[in-house]
Amino acid sequence: MEIYEALKKDHEQVKTLLDELVGLGESDEYRYVLIQEIHNLLVPHSRAEESVFYNSLRALDTDKRLVFHGYKEHLEAEALLRSLQAMDRVNLGWRPVAEKLREAVLDHVEHEESEIFTEARRVFTASEAEAMGNAFKQLKPKIAEEGLVNNTVDMVLSMLPPRLSDKLRNIGGDSALR
Ligand SMILES: [Fe+2]
Ligand SMILES: [Fe+2]
Repeated sequence: MEIYEALKKDHEQVKTLLDELVGLGESDEYRYVLIQEIHNLLVPHSRAEESVFYNSLRALDTDKRLVFHGYKEHLEAEALLRSLQAMDRVNLGWRPVAEKLREAVLDHVEHEESEIFTEARRVFTASEAEAMGNAFKQLKPKIAEEGLVNNTVDMVLSMLPPRLSDKLRNIGGDSALR
């Protein structure tokens, strides 16, 4: 599966969960489950996406602003998610934050699937996109389970085509993947 398809699958899932969340009644306790599910999907998705996709883009001759904008939006979404978790615990008004998070994620996904994917399709070959898709799918559950550890970084580097992995190693060593 090419990276684009793998990322889109997650985007659709997180959008569905966010729609469900903002559609809940004010005191529906199912929101605890949903917020946890959104966290468990969004955070490993973003880390694996940065490691495999953004860093590969950065390593090539691309418009760097696109990727930095993407990183910034990941930070913003995760800050909103943390506020939501904190508010939810003390039972304060969670809905406005949930709506803001949904808006932020929808905007980000739109930016990613239009501008970033277009730039990526310009620079990556189909087999590179396929290799990134496989690396992404293997890395994501590892991040969810145990965080990003050295052997995972090595695993990802070795799964990527040499044109990408050599460049990634050269951007400040393996730390480019962390
Ligand atoms: Fe994404
Ligand atoms: Fe993203």
